[in-house]
Amino acid sequence: MDAQTANTSHGALMDSVYKGQRHIYDLTRKYYLFGRDTLIEGLDSRPGMRVLEVACGTGRNLAKIGKAWPGVQLYGLDISSEMLKNARKAVGKNAKLGLGDACAFHADETFGEPGLREKGFDRIVLSYSLSMVPDWESALAHTADQLAPGGELHIVDFGDLGGLPGPLEGLLHKWLAKFHVQTRSDLPEAARRIAKAHGIELTSTRGKLGYFQLHVLKAPRTGS
Ligand SMILES: C[S@@+](CC[C@H](N)C(=O)[O-])C[C@H]1O[C@@H](n2cnc3c(N)ncnc32)[C@H](O)[C@@H]1O
Repeated sequence: MDAQTANTSHGALMDSVYKGQRHIYDLTRKYYLFGRDTLIEGLDSRPGMRVLEVACGTGRNLAKIGKAWPGVQLYGLDISSEMLKNARKAVGKNAKLGLGDACAFHADETFGEPGLREKGFDRIVLSYSLSMVPDWESALAHTADQLAPGGELHIVDFGDLGGLPGPLEGLLHKWLAKFHVQTRSDLPEAARRIAKAHGIELTSTRGKLGYFQLHVLKAPRTGS
C-alpha cells in the first residue's frame, strides 16, 4: 500500500470510529484522558502566538486553549472529517481548521495561508493522538519540524500504565485496542532522539501510576 492510500484508509477508519462516538466523546473522555488540562496550563502563550493542535478531534482542547490564553491564533487539523464537524461547532470562527494527516500535512495548504509553513508555530499540541497514529514516529518528527524558532511542542498521551494492578492494566490495554488505541511506551525514547537530532530541549514527566506521559520539546531561538 502506498502512503497516500494508507492515509486515505486510516482517515476512513477514524471516521468509522468517531461517526457515532463524536457525539459522546467530550462527555466520556473527561473520565480517562487525563493530563490534557495540565498541558494547556503549561502552554505559557502570549497574544499573537500561533498555536496548532495536530489531531484536534472535537476541538475541546482548542476551545480551552482560546479561553486560557486569549489572543492566540488557533489552528487545528485532524484526519477525520467526522471529528472536524464537532471541532467547527466548538471553536466557531476562533480557529482555522483543516483536514490533514499528522505525518504529512503542509501548513500552507491545510489552512489556506501562504507562508505559514515558513513561519512555523509557536506552540504545537499532540494530545492523545500518537496512540492512534500507526506511523506515530513520523507524525512526531513531522510535527516537531513545524516549530517556529523558540517554539514548543507539548505532548500528552497514555503512559506505560506500569503502576496499575496487573489485571487492570491488561483490561485497559484490551479496551483501548477496541478504539484502535495503542499505548506508546517507547515515546520517551523517541522524544529524546528527536530532541537530540534537532538540538531541542526536552522535559518529560511520568503521570501518577504511569497512566499518562507529558513531554515538552523547546526549539532553539535561532531555529533548528
Ligand atoms: C483520542 S482522539 C484525541 C483528540 C484530541 N486531541 C483530544 O485530546 O481530545 C485522537 C484523534 O486523532 C485523530 N487522528 C488519528 N490519526 C491521525 C492522523 N494520522 N492525522 C491526524 N489526525 C489523526 C483522530 O481522528 C482523533 O480525532
